[in-house]
Amino acid sequence: MRNLDQDTITQAVLARLSDTPVPRIKEIVTSLVQHLHSFAREVKLTQAEWFKGIQYLTATGQKCDDKRQEFILLSDVLGLSMLTVCLNNQKPPGCTESTVFGPFHVEGAPHFEDGADLANGAKGERCEVHCTIKGLDGTPVAGATIDVWQADAGGNYDVQYAELDKAQARGVLQAGEDGKFSFHTIVAQAYPIPADGPVGELLRATGRHPWRPAHLHFMIKAPGYETLVTHVFRKGDRYLDSDAVFGVRESLVGEWIQQANGGYRLDFDFVLNRAKA
Ligand code: BEZ
Ligand code: FE
Repeated sequence: MRNLDQDTITQAVLARLSDTPVPRIKEIVTSLVQHLHSFAREVKLTQAEWFKGIQYLTATGQKCDDKRQEFILLSDVLGLSMLTVCLNNQKPPGCTESTVFGPFHVEGAPHFEDGADLANGAKGERCEVHCTIKGLDGTPVAGATIDVWQADAGGNYDVQYAELDKAQARGVLQAGEDGKFSFHTIVAQAYPIPADGPVGELLRATGRHPWRPAHLHFMIKAPGYETLVTHVFRKGDRYLDSDAVFGVRESLVGEWIQQANGGYRLDFDFVLNRAKA
């Protein structure tokens, strides 16, 4: 195949994929080539712009290490992460909606008794959280395991402090037979996603801010139910309608109510979807 030009090269590349043995790989790479070529034609991509793109992706890879995943962050700010959440978590009405996982979950966080204080020295105003986990029919889900993680008053997760060698404002809890669990922590605050790398450069170049509205992360696992990865967002936060990673859903907004003792209280119920047989 010779003398390919701008009108024939796409078909030539697609024809070269005809022997791809795994059908799903064939489908994905075929579509990727079609969309990439259409994109280049649509914007009339110059060679200098193409090279700038290559340099950008190279810098994105170079920013990644065991603590930082700049490609996921890039996917987040382009809305691709939330799009895949939407595509893969369609549930019956009434189930708690899913949202992005984010990069700050830690496998093997410390386990706590019901009602314990997960803050473990994290800075912030005091807050107690009371939750119930139910099925769609309203019956409590017994024995769920709940991972909770959040940023502190400074807008940082514990793993973002290089000198800190203990978990703060994160932990694993077990719901009771009645589906209930509770814990003490600190009040969640809005925070900027890491903006000192290529993703920050993109945000600035497109006139966007890096902020996420205040939220608590939850991952809830229970036998017989789909795992739920979600947040509870704080009512009234100024970034609810401009989340840098497009993760806010109205049904996930909860109210942190100020208590007479000076702290805050959040009540939130989760509804799990039954696992497919
Ligand atoms: C988070 O909520 O922890 C998060 C999500 C996406 C990008 C950065 C942070
Ligand atoms: Fe977060």
